[in-house]
Amino acid sequence: AYVITQPCIGTKDASCVDVCPVDCIHPGPGEDGYDEHEQLYINPDECIDCGACEPACPVTAIFEESAVPGEWKQWIKINADFFQGA
Ligand code: SF4
Ligand code: F3S
Repeated sequence: AYVITQPCIGTKDASCVDVCPVDCIHPGPGEDGYDEHEQLYINPDECIDCGACEPACPVTAIFEESAVPGEWKQWIKINADFFQGA
């Protein structure tokens, strides 16, 4: 699945939502509970790995799971947890 990482915070451009063919990208609160850290999240159970969202993001926040840069690897779990209500 594709994953939305830290650069989305404070930007929330939402171009990714417009291009996603399965509507699996949703806004949510910051993973730390702070509203100022709100971002969008990709549901890994619904993402079909089409890759359309990645180039649509103006701040390069979206990566295929295996390509998430090291410092943002925790966002793989953060995206998944959001949809499990964790
Ligand atoms: Fe949606 Fe495709 Fe991006 Fe997955 S890779 S979140 S299906 S646009
Ligand atoms: Fe965030 Fe980029 Fe989408 S800033 S809302 S991941 S287009």
